Amino acid sequence: MKSNNSPIGFFDSGVGGTSIWKEVITLLPNEDTVYLSDSKNAPYGEKSTEEIIALSIKNTEFLLKKNCKIIVVACNTATTNTITYLRKKYKIPFIGIEPAIKPAALITKTNIIGILATKGTLNSTLFEKTSNTIRKDIKIKETVGKGLVELIEGGKLNSKEMTSLLSLYLEPMIADNIDSLVLGCTHYPYLIPQIKSIVGSKIKIIDSGEAVARQTKAVLKQLNLLNIDAKHQPKHKLYINKDKTTLENLLHNINHKNIEVNESDF
Ligand code: DGL
Repeated sequence: MKSNNSPIGFFDSGVGGTSIWKEVITLLPNEDTVYLSDSKNAPYGEKSTEEIIALSIKNTEFLLKKNCKIIVVACNTATTNTITYLRKKYKIPFIGIEPAIKPAALITKTNIIGILATKGTLNSTLFEKTSNTIRKDIKIKETVGKGLVELIEGGKLNSKEMTSLLSLYLEPMIADNIDSLVLGCTHYPYLIPQIKSIVGSKIKIIDSGEAVARQTKAVLKQLNLLNIDAKHQPKHKLYINKDKTTLENLLHNINHKNIEVNESDF
């Protein structure tokens, strides 16, 4: 039986969705969580919608077995390709993440926004729909961050390959006079220090992590599903279907007793 004490579930094609998970456990420090890193099947961004749906079903079924009360799809590619399907198929509430082009459209002065995301996200119908709601005088410069997820998954966050790929993708956008850069993939917030050193301080970097955490809280509150037991000691269980080193490295600065990282073929 799902109850207020049931965990919040998360899934991503890999370790990147922990950028969202971190925001959620910070805003909701009383909640248990279960996080799935489907690293064996990363990247999702180069897969067909049918393949992404099949993987999202597999992840959802695992989280349902763990008795989750809500599922955060901590992946732009999975959200933009599958959330409508998942919401129809399952009763459990889903929170999705989409590239924050709407907030970027509100602050741009040059009327040129850059977005770095996967091919799967940029080609999705949902992204097209959201882009169509943006004022017509605003230009969106889309760039596929091909290879970035693979480098992060491979533990090469700070590497020469990463710097050259980022420069290759960001320099043309800088030349196009963007003043806001939307990070449309949950792996990319881990690249912010390097992105800043390339784009400088004049270009605002925008990601959706905090907004997703606020939305998760709002939905749980609305459904009366927040964990209100003040004495509760929250537990966090992370599962990865590959070697866990990269995941553990990304979590090293989190000061929390009850974090368990399991290698598991879910
Ligand atoms: N973190 C996923 C996203 O937000 C990465 C997608 C991929 O695996 O290509 O889109």
